[in-house]
Amino acid sequence: MLKFLLIVWFSISVAEDFKVPKPTTTQAKWLDYEVGAIVHFNMQTFDRYMKPGKVVAADVFNPCELSTDQWVKAAKSFGAKYIVFTIDHFSGFLMWPSKTDYKYSVKYTKWREGKGDVLLDFIKSSKKYGLEHGVFYSVHNNWYMGVDNYTTGDPASQERYQKIVEEQMHELFHAQSLYKDPFYIWFDAGIVPGVSPNVGPTIRDLAKNSLCDECPTFAGDQGLRWVGNENAMAPLPHWYAVPKGKCSMKTNDGQVIQGNPSGELFCPANCDTVIREHFWFWEPDTEYSVKSVCRLVQEYLTSVGHGCTLLLNINPDTRGKVPEQDLSTYEELGRAIELLYKEPVAKYFSQKLHVDKEKKWEFKTFVSLNGSIVIMEDIAKFGQLVRSYELKVKTGDCWISIDEEGSTIGHKRIHPFPRALAEKKISGISLKIRKLVTEQRDITLREVSVYKWDEAAKQNLI
Ligand SMILES: *[C@@H]1O[C@H](CO)[C@@H](O)[C@H](O)[C@H]1NC(C)=O
Ligand SMILES: *[C@@H]1O[C@H](CO)[C@@H](O)[C@H](O)[C@H]1NC(C)=O
Repeated sequence: MLKFLLIVWFSISVAEDFKVPKPTTTQAKWLDYEVGAIVHFNMQTFDRYMKPGKVVAADVFNPCELSTDQWVKAAKSFGAKYIVFTIDHFSGFLMWPSKTDYKYSVKYTKWREGKGDVLLDFIKSSKKYGLEHGVFYSVHNNWYMGVDNYTTGDPASQERYQKIVEEQMHELFHAQSLYKDPFYIWFDAGIVPGVSPNVGPTIRDLAKNSLCDECPTFAGDQGLRWVGNENAMAPLPHWYAVPKGKCSMKTNDGQVIQGNPSGELFCPANCDTVIREHFWFWEPDTEYSVKSVCRLVQEYLTSVGHGCTLLLNINPDTRGKVPEQDLSTYEELGRAIELLYKEPVAKYFSQKLHVDKEKKWEFKTFVSLNGSIVIMEDIAKFGQLVRSYELKVKTGDCWISIDEEGSTIGHKRIHPFPRALAEKKISGISLKIRKLVTEQRDITLREVSVYKWDEAAKQNLI
């Protein structure tokens, strides 16, 4: 009996002690943005055969029609609210004229007589078109400095690498820098404390308001992580929180960390994907690989529709411009995403629901081949609470359960109409929250909506 009481007492106290982690203002803003862009443009655009030990001359970089305005407009056309740029990728070539003791950057090219600054142009274009900007910097590889998998293999050059990286971080993010205060910083493949240069202290000191993607030990409460695949696919259930200190890509045995319902640290994943299957940098004769809009819409549904954010690649070519075929695909994708929300049937805001009690909403009957039910939690206010729910649709006098299992909702969950409902009369939906991550008995959802997708289907965009 005593043992039983102890167990009961223990489980109650654990539940009461659990404080649902909430996003910072910046993380909440990022979730609300839903869609972002990442631009892969660097020396690999010009020479894709680069590898460790084979560094091409700086002058190979010569984008004679470069237009960062055009990149940003492309991003805006598919609804991106922020844009990230590979200012340093595996080659080690820098997109800004660094004043550090480092001779592999735009400054050492004939392009714009060595006076060009792609990063600054990029930041100006982002501001001009109202997008937040971010930078991608690789500590993991730097072929110019002979770094492969975080190290040069030699203590003296490793020390020099460490120093250079630190100086470049300072140059980029100090208070008077032209490049300061990015919305987003991404260290691809993360950093490995004790092995790679430790950028943590500098980043947390100079760029504490920036979101930090793959910053395992120093993200603080501004962390983001990678979802673990490059197809914009968030596995369900999709949790934002992770155990403390685990806001990183992999466990010690190499597994990508997914979130979990009892995580104490808010550190959501980004769902990235390419437009050309499967190229991050532009390569000649790869037009055939540009994805169809329908496929990209599917990727939108498995990322944004699963509570993740979509991060779609842009691969400018050797002119420094986004190729025409990609441009029109981005535009169509933007149109398709807009159409997913253009025909609302019903919209309900700030809906209070009691756990285990079905709530019904009924509306004017309609018939549609395609459409969706959208559910949103209020993550900024309450954190992520829902771990299980049941959703039904009313057709005639019947309430039919959606066959997809209702697990997490998160910022947004999109349920496309199941096949069984195609062309059926729909006149209501119901939702029963079964389980939350806390013991509380009610929840206020941000929004519950129903949309027709007739126009998107008519235009062959979904
Ligand atoms: C790369 O470096 C990490 C960190 O030192 C190490 O755990 C991993 O085994 C290395 N991978 C390869 C392929 O050498
Ligand atoms: C549109 O409806 C058809 C018929 O139910 C279905 O096969 C298709 O997957 C739906 N498309 C989308 C994007 O939901």
